[in-house]
This record gives sequence, structure tokens and C-alpha cells, in this order.
Amino acid sequence: MALALTSSFAPRFLPLRLPKVCLALSAETADAMLEIAEEMAQDHPFVEFRFDYLKQPVAALAKIRRFLETHQYITAIATCRRVQNGGKFKGSLASQFEILNKASASGCQIVDVELESALKAKPEALARLRRTAGLIISFHDFRATRNLDHTLEKMQKIPSDFYKIVTTATTLSDNVTMMKFLQKQSDKHALIGLCMGEQGIISRVLGVRAGSVFTFGAVSAQQKTAPGQVSARDLRSIYRIEQVDAATRVYGVAGDPIEHSLSPVIMNTALRRENVNGVYLALHAKTLKDLIHCVREIPLHGLSITMPYKQAILEYLDNSDAHTSKTEACNTVVRGQDGKLYGFNTDIAGVVRPLEQRLTIENAKVLVLGAGGAARAAVFGLKERGADIWILNRTAAKAQKLARQARARTIKRADLRKVAFDVIINATPVGMGSTKECPLKDDEIQAKVVFDMVYDPVETRLLQVARARGISVIPGVEMFVHQAARQFEIWTGKPAPAQDMLRVVTVALQERAKARAAERK
Ligand code: ATR
Repeated sequence: MALALTSSFAPRFLPLRLPKVCLALSAETADAMLEIAEEMAQDHPFVEFRFDYLKQPVAALAKIRRFLETHQYITAIATCRRVQNGGKFKGSLASQFEILNKASASGCQIVDVELESALKAKPEALARLRRTAGLIISFHDFRATRNLDHTLEKMQKIPSDFYKIVTTATTLSDNVTMMKFLQKQSDKHALIGLCMGEQGIISRVLGVRAGSVFTFGAVSAQQKTAPGQVSARDLRSIYRIEQVDAATRVYGVAGDPIEHSLSPVIMNTALRRENVNGVYLALHAKTLKDLIHCVREIPLHGLSITMPYKQAILEYLDNSDAHTSKTEACNTVVRGQDGKLYGFNTDIAGVVRPLEQRLTIENAKVLVLGAGGAARAAVFGLKERGADIWILNRTAAKAQKLARQARARTIKRADLRKVAFDVIINATPVGMGSTKECPLKDDEIQAKVVFDMVYDPVETRLLQVARARGISVIPGVEMFVHQAARQFEIWTGKPAPAQDMLRVVTVALQERAKARAAERK
């Protein structure tokens, strides 16, 4: 049944009926706001109209009324946040309340008043709002996550249907603080709680499971009303927030920076395809200590580890596989039932699998460019499979050291033209982004297969040159997909849907390249 505005309207029933994601709508005109609402209404029948973003909030009311009359299945929150409290409304307290009253009369079933305004308002003014709408008293902390119980105590002095506390995560552990608060208090009060900021993603996806009645989603990555807000579409389709429950296993990729990681897209696709009750998040870990705290408290079932922690994580592991010890790097962590942390290195599978699909690795003559972490995975992984490895690095001493450890050989750049290889692998970052650089000159590329570990752009200069010379090429996305596929297998025990994973990551990279090209124009 639609939540029509009737005299028997009982706000206390609302928590039972609300969808988990409220779409935050901000635009300068009612037409623009309603156009988006119309477009997204089918998938997102719960919206927040940010009246404070509207240039003429009062004039917008008639249009909003018509919209809600013709979209009876939509539940709407009216918010008119004042400038002093992080919004855009510059009018008086009286005009803020007038707009909210009129919004309620226009069909918005819920109104949001920030604590600061609520404290200033007369109790009758709040009581009047509550007669026709559910009331949210909200509090925002734009700097930290702190004093949650104390804040709620203060808020409770004002009778309300919901209390909303939004803080800022400056560490991953702030999410733990928020979720523990929600777990403790949500059986006593209808709460909405989340942490803003890039580090608040955990609370945005898992807050509902911890007891938040709902959470907020943005219209798109570009149109956010709060820092760190995830788009409503991503919350539903990538993170599958409607399905997140007590049994959902939580995974994540930890690194610094992490914003542009493609791992959430690829891993959540795999989890969805294989019907695994799991969700995978991008975790901006500024320290490993912070990360490990979350692993234990949330708890996180599995972690992908990326730059700059692949070595540093080793000291936190209780045990690890042979590939981790050989490469002295770990990119995969499993938290066992016993709470212990087990480390794996799946970068090796990321190198070996794409190659073994194309040639016999045993006795293949392989040139590895680079002597860093990525090169170590290639060198040890292929050596173990019987390849004949040659290493070339900008800093010769590092190549020699790695060659000694792996019982491989080194080669000088000047000698390259004299040797033909079965495989050349680029394990340096040369060619990444929009540089169009190539680690080798055209006539230095003598091989049957060229494998570039750089995956953004998909088609690097090295691959273009190799292809033009009739050489078979392996793009870096294949390594990315196969290291992820192996992680998936370790975590779930199921074969990974590698083709689907490759498809989504290729599309994501193409979109990224398009966005970059548009920016340059
Ligand atoms: P990763 O973990 O991605 O392998 P890394 O450990 O920093 O990153 O290693 C980067 C490798 O690429 C190194 O071998 C580095 O050479 P140096 O040992 O001389 O630093 C190599 N590399 C980085 N930039 C390079 C460039 N512009 N030209 C050639 N080699 C480069």
C-alpha cells in the first residue's frame, strides 16, 4: 500500500516500510529535481528533496505536490538544511519551518530538522510538524566520529520519530564506532547513522545491517549531497544493499590511495554471479593498524592488499603460503574461523594463468622488465613452472639481486637486440595512464608473446607496437582479472566467473578512458 497522507497516518510504522536506500535529490530548480526523481523513481521509491538546494523552494512546492500525487508509491523526505548546519538555506528559522510544513502538506511524509534548529525552535513548532509527518532530528559532525551516545542523549530530549547522526570517518575504525553505536541503540530508537568521507564506505553499506533504518545514496558519482556518498544505483547493484544481512560476509581491498580501485566492481560482480552472500568494499587504510582493527571487529572475512601494504602486511599474518614467502609480498588475506590471518599471493596466478593459456611455460625463454614487486611475482611464478628467466631493470643492481634470489639471469639493455624471447613481460609502470610511453624500442621487441602488466590504458603503447609487429599480446587486465579470480576461489571455494570479471573491468576501463578524453577536451 502506498504511504498516502491521511489523518490516520502513523509515523511510527514508517521504519517497517521504508526501503533501505533514500535517494538524495539536490538541484537548483524543481524541474531538474523532479526530472531525476521521475527517471529514477521505479528503482528508488524513497527520495529526499533537498529544498535548501532549490533557488526558489516555496515556488517548487506545487510541482512537488503534483509529482507526489501522481507517484503515490514514493516516500519523500523534505529537508531544508540551513547554511550554519552544512546546508544551503539562508532564510530564517521561521521560513525553514514554513517550507517544511508546506512540504508536508504537499505530500512529503517525513521532514528532517537539524538538531541546532530544533533546539532553537519552539516545541509547538516541532509538534505541529509531527502532526502530519514523521520527524527526523538530525545531527552532522563534519570533522570526526565522536560522542555518539552523548549526542543521542541530547537529541532525545526532543520528541521525534527518527534520530539521524551523521559523522565523518577519518579512520576506518570510525565505522566500527558508528556501527557499535547503532547496534547498541537501535532497538531503543529508530536511528539513521552513517559516516561521511571516503573512509565511511563501510558504514554506508553495512550501517543498515547494524541497525540504521536506512541510508542515503547519491543520484550519481558527480551529484553527491555529502562527502563519500555512494550513488544509490551502486548501493543497490554493486553492493546489493537490499540483500546485506547478518550472514553477509564482508571483503575489501585495502590500500592508500584506493579511490580508483577497480577491485570492488570486479569482485562484487563475481560475488553476485556466483550467488555468494558477500559484499566487497574499497577500504582507504591510512595505517595497517587501523585496517587490522576493522578486520577483527567488523569482522572482515577476506582482504585484497594493494599498494603500499603488500610487504608491510606480512608481520600481521599468522601464516602464509609459499608464494607469499618467495615473493615477500602478500596480496590476499583470509581471516579464518579462529580469527587468525592467513596470507596468500595471487599475483603469481595472475601472471601464470594468462600465459599458460597461450604457451607451454616450461623452458620458455622469458624477459621480465623491472625488479620490483610485480616483477618478483612474474619471476618466481614462472621460474617455479620451469621457465628460463632473464631480468632487465633500470637499476642493474636490483635486477642482479632478484636474479640471484630466483636463480635467474640478467641482461643488459645493449644486448637486447641480440636475443629473441618467447615472452616479454613488462613489470614496470612505464606506459601507465595517458603517458603513451613504451619501455622498449620497436626493434628491441623480439618475442612470440608480449604481456604488459600495466592495465590502464587497456591497450598500452607496448601492446600496440607488439601487435603491429605480429606478436600475440596479453593486456594487463588479464593479470588483474586472474589475480582477483584466484582470490575469489580462495575466499569462496568456488570457481571464479573470470569471463564476466574481464568484461566488467574492461567496460570500466573504457569508461574511464572516455572520461579522461572528455576532460582533456
Ligand atoms: P611494483 O610493485 O608495481 O612492481 P615497484 O616495486 O616500485 O612497483 O617497482 C617498479 C619497477 O619498475 C622497478 O623495477 C623500477 O626500476 P628501479 O628499480 O630502477 O626503480 C621500474 N621502473 C619504474 N619506473 C621506471 C621507468 N620510468 N623506467 C624504467 N623502469 C622503471
